[in-house]
Amino acid sequence: MSRVARAVAHPNIALAKYWGKDSDERRMPAVPSLSVTLEGMQTTTEVTFDEALEGDILILNGESKLGRPAIRVSALLDRVRARASISSRAHVTTTNDFPTAAGLASSASAFAALSVAASDAAGLPVDLDELSDLARQSSVSAARSLHGGFVELPLGGAVDRLIATQVAPADHIALAVLVLVTHEGEKPISSTEAMRITRETSPYYEAWVRTAPDLFERIRMAVLEGDFPGLGRATEQSALRMHAVALASSSGLLYWNPATVAAIEAVRKLRSEGLNAYFTIDAGPHVKVLVPTSEVDSARSELEKVPGVIRTITTTPGGAARLIDLRRDGA
Ligand code: PMV
Repeated sequence: MSRVARAVAHPNIALAKYWGKDSDERRMPAVPSLSVTLEGMQTTTEVTFDEALEGDILILNGESKLGRPAIRVSALLDRVRARASISSRAHVTTTNDFPTAAGLASSASAFAALSVAASDAAGLPVDLDELSDLARQSSVSAARSLHGGFVELPLGGAVDRLIATQVAPADHIALAVLVLVTHEGEKPISSTEAMRITRETSPYYEAWVRTAPDLFERIRMAVLEGDFPGLGRATEQSALRMHAVALASSSGLLYWNPATVAAIEAVRKLRSEGLNAYFTIDAGPHVKVLVPTSEVDSARSELEKVPGVIRTITTTPGGAARLIDLRRDGA
């Protein structure tokens, strides 16, 4: 049985946002979501199960980690160990080639890559549907990073298992996602905690949960039909509703900084000038701009001038999480 495995996964950006769980224990999403997996940003994770270890070890971006990140990694490893009937602790080395925990979906690619590497190292089959449910229990959005292209994840409801599936392959729509980085630090509050506060205190939570499925369906249809403006408009609405419901909570969860607002205005201005640009924003201050690949250079040259935009990352729809062949990789 192989004891060591390495995997890569890409982050994904939700076009139809997930925000809110049925309950924190079940980690089932209260709304359906649809995302696009992004090539151009990547997490690489190596897992070694070693009988000589007394506890799991996590090295993230070259630094040894304890506390919450290590606990979350061990929780996923425990589920893999239970399934594979092994007890060995593991050494986990993981690196992101983009900012960690800053609202760039690093937990999605992290838990997708970890699910694949840990399962293979434990001798379990690498079945991406099955692994999407494993990853979902650590981070709901991670379930979607198992697959490439456009990916949907249904809402949880009464089921025990939730499977992410591909809606359309990466080359289905010729789009680029420009990531406008507006802050380099880590985010102050975890998404899990922010979602709990939203569910328990936002007067708009019920309306968000009730209306999200319709918006999800519009986004799904726009993807299938290749309707870029329809997709862009509904994507903006989903992001704005998600931020509105969080902002209306007792903690007034505001993820934006002045550069976020300036970028929104710049995208709207580009649109009034005839460009097909649409924004979306996750639980952080960065703005992601959807634009047809034919218009990406014009959009980027305008958007990198926005005050407070530190740098831009150009991404395109990308592939599924996958194992790296360690022999060919020289390890
Ligand atoms: O799965 P989590 O806990 O990383 O939460 C992700 C939430 C958003 O990124 C804001 C939306 C989404 O659907 O990815």
